[in-house]
Amino acid sequence: MASPSETPKNLILIGFMGSGKSSIARELSKTLGYPVVDTDSLIVERAGKPIRKIFEQDGEEKFRDLEADTLRDLEESRPSRLIIATGGGVIARPDNCEILRRLGFVVWLVVSAEEIIKRTSKSRERPLLNNKDQRGTIDRLLSERRELYRATAHQAVETDGLTFPEITTGILESARYFFAQ
Ligand code: S3P
Repeated sequence: MASPSETPKNLILIGFMGSGKSSIARELSKTLGYPVVDTDSLIVERAGKPIRKIFEQDGEEKFRDLEADTLRDLEESRPSRLIIATGGGVIARPDNCEILRRLGFVVWLVVSAEEIIKRTSKSRERPLLNNKDQRGTIDRLLSERRELYRATAHQAVETDGLTFPEITTGILESARYFFAQ
């Protein structure tokens, strides 16, 4: 296992749908000047169609295969000084979790079910939440995934009630400490 000082200086954001990964990634990018890479966008490019269509036409397993291939390619490109935003289900495959930890400092954006509902209820772009029982789906997925997020992340950051700049400041402090070890 590489020590933190040998780990590439990427910041990786994991967390449930609606935890603010894309917005926090942009905020971190503004502060650090590192480009943002969004694994969902790479998947869309690779598949040549939106995520909603991949789920509809090819199914979730195919999406997960694309997600795993995308992460493997990202690691092979030996990235450094990137902000990497991931899809909420990336932690479903153990290989993905190992790649993420090798790629840099992994931050879990922790968010409550109430906040997730507020942030995702209007979006139609999240196939897993396109059903009548959104709250039930969120509760089930959260309970399946919470331990996986915790085990994958180097740091958990609470987000409820905090502004993006407040969250970003906390992440930067933790990252500085991590890479200095
Ligand atoms: C998913 C989250 C989505 C996207 C896909 C599956 C999930 O990304 O990868 O719809 O399984 O939680 P966001 O977390 O960016 O919404």
